[in-house]
Amino acid sequence: MERDALGEIRRYLLARRGSGGEVAYRIAGEARVADEPRKPVREIVMITSPAPRGNAAAVEQASLFGEGARKPGLDLSGLDLASLDALVSKCERCGLAGGRTRTVFGSGNRSARIVFVGEAPGREEDLQGLPFVGRAGQLLTKMLAAIGFAREDVYIANILKCRPPGNREPQEDEMAACEPYLARQLELIDPVMICALGRIAAHGLLKKTAALGVLRKGLHYYNDIPVAVTYHPAALLRNPNLKRDAWEDLQTMRKLYDGKVGEGE
Ligand code: URA
Repeated sequence: MERDALGEIRRYLLARRGSGGEVAYRIAGEARVADEPRKPVREIVMITSPAPRGNAAAVEQASLFGEGARKPGLDLSGLDLASLDALVSKCERCGLAGGRTRTVFGSGNRSARIVFVGEAPGREEDLQGLPFVGRAGQLLTKMLAAIGFAREDVYIANILKCRPPGNREPQEDEMAACEPYLARQLELIDPVMICALGRIAAHGLLKKTAALGVLRKGLHYYNDIPVAVTYHPAALLRNPNLKRDAWEDLQTMRKLYDGKVGEGE
């Protein structure tokens, strides 16, 4: 029966190909197909190239499987941070949904001029629903204080909103599924500067694959917003020798931030 439903969807999508952007599909969370026969329908995600605006067929495709199904063309443009947070809390766009306790949307000052972006929630974050509240988070709080920021001054979010099992590295499909949420957060907060904490955050934001040691030496841009890159606090906990470089990064970042805010941005 499940197979029939999936076959029907497949036929529908193939029939629609070309009418509203290239359509592909994948089935997320196969394991849950067996447990919850009705779930896979909502877990079918579509990967479409942008469809022409106003194309009724594309709109129909996008809404066929409900809110969580649009990918990556998820239209979040009407959502403010509170409604985005509510949507994220119900998200099932990737397999991490099944293993989470809570989603971790972000925290801090919603009008912050600077946003810090980490990788993904860990155990404590998953339990509390807040970013950077475990050991790495405590170090991040100290790093911020060292350059004159309280946590309430800044906004903190992650590339992923759900904890990967055993804190493994985020996978590409998970990052792609989660990307529209952070993009909308950044659009709404509209900071003058972003700080990427660690390789995954840098790669996710910048779409670059260079090593962290290379990226931290340059200044990058995310939609015209300057992005500074430094070590993830967890890396500093593992290797305290990196703290000296991180301290330099933070000072450079603070100067740039002061320059930007001083310019009235
Ligand atoms: N590590 C991260 O990247 N983010 C968190 O929220 C916690 C630990």
